[in-house]
Amino acid sequence: MKNLVLKRIQQMCSYNPPLDGRAAYRGVLLDFNERTIATTGLQRYPEYGDLAEQVGNYVQVPGSSILVTNGSDQGIDLIFRAFVEVGDGVVLPEPSFAMFKQCADIQGACIVRQIKPNTKLIVICNPNNPTGALTPLLTIEALAKTNPNTIILIDEAYAEFSGVTAIPLMTQYPNIIVTRTFSKAFGLASVRMGYIVANSTYIQELKKIMGPYDLNSAGVTAVRVALADTSYVTSYVQEVMQQAKPLVELFFRKNSIEYYPSQANFVLFKPDQAEHVAQRLEQAGYRLRLQRHPSIAGTLRVSIGTVPQMRRFINVYQQVILQRQPQRIALFDRDGTLVYEPESTKQLDDVKDVRLLPGVIPALQGLQAQGYLLVMVSNQDGLGTVAFPQVKFAACQELIIQHCKAAGVTFAEVLICPHLPTADCTCRKPKTGLIDALFCDYAVDYVATFLCGDRPTDRQCADALGITFYPSLTDLPL
Ligand SMILES: Cc1ncc(COP(=O)(O)O)c(C=O)c1O
Repeated sequence: MKNLVLKRIQQMCSYNPPLDGRAAYRGVLLDFNERTIATTGLQRYPEYGDLAEQVGNYVQVPGSSILVTNGSDQGIDLIFRAFVEVGDGVVLPEPSFAMFKQCADIQGACIVRQIKPNTKLIVICNPNNPTGALTPLLTIEALAKTNPNTIILIDEAYAEFSGVTAIPLMTQYPNIIVTRTFSKAFGLASVRMGYIVANSTYIQELKKIMGPYDLNSAGVTAVRVALADTSYVTSYVQEVMQQAKPLVELFFRKNSIEYYPSQANFVLFKPDQAEHVAQRLEQAGYRLRLQRHPSIAGTLRVSIGTVPQMRRFINVYQQVILQRQPQRIALFDRDGTLVYEPESTKQLDDVKDVRLLPGVIPALQGLQAQGYLLVMVSNQDGLGTVAFPQVKFAACQELIIQHCKAAGVTFAEVLICPHLPTADCTCRKPKTGLIDALFCDYAVDYVATFLCGDRPTDRQCADALGITFYPSLTDLPL
């Protein structure tokens, strides 16, 4: 491969002070002009000989392909300093993370829009901050292939969230260099730890530019501990990407708020009067980032957290921005809670069997009088199949609704999951899909809102929603 590092850096030697083995040394350390009488270990310069190996294990490359840096910001800075000279062309994403332009400007680079013969570096932020857009690996590969004398810097600060990485491409295309961070999914932003993944030749060159003491022992220890068990990262990423982000996106869609599909733990959206929205949310306890770049003027970036955090955020948004009054919602399972459930089939498909259970009408009347919105939410396994035709269900349902109507009781919504358990849908209780969609239309009074049902899945559903569960009508707040 052709070494693309600036000539003057290639000619340099790296400064490698003899730090390794000092912590384990039994004698007195008089070799680094440190204070000699401290006992905590903090007086010693940090030692992190095998850390690159550990990080390498995490991303499945040899330790020689890793340079651990003081945050990925330092990684980006080192790469610019190694490859970019005054006047060199660099291609930057726009809008994107501000560090790229800062580094390019410091080096005196010429920021260009198109790849030209003198283009030294192309930056791809994957997924991009603040849009969340992901560049396909095929595009990256094509770029690397057609521009072998250009460094393709891929900033993968959010790769844990996207699950997409260009690292495996590196063996074939040594002009690809990846920066990563422990600041995001790992939750270690304060200790400033990141890393570069690159061909080992480039790692050796980049080491010449980095100071030997740029890492601190708190960060080194934190990363060692984090890498020893990354399950906390996996479970957080899963909650954010599989549950919390879809919830926020659903909320935006249902309320016609434009947003950019994101592969990261944030979503860029465009409310009416973004600045005003940002101010109101800030006062209500949520600080978002207003975007100032002209191409995305009037947008806000919201970081996505846990499901309970985002449910609360959505609820505050409904009240403070969409001006909705908190609504009490009474959710009722149908079969076995409101109506008699045939023992044998557990399927109400014969009008002869339609019977409201004792106490249902007074309970519903009482709740309605208190201002509750009444909602039925029911699993009807295999509805619409030969075994459970829609017409039979509809006839029974119609009769239930008529009985209620005769008593002055109206259900505002009837939410039915028609799927079989094997479908693994998002709407079958205990999954919350149907109710999540409903909650996008109302500012929910979470204190008063409840789900009343007869099955453990009803309880699990209520727990997941953060609302009260009542196992029978007699427990209702009447
Ligand atoms: C795309 C991108 N790269 C790098 C960073 C900085 O990471 P670090 O904390 O590792 O310097 C950020 C932080 O916001 C980022 O969004």
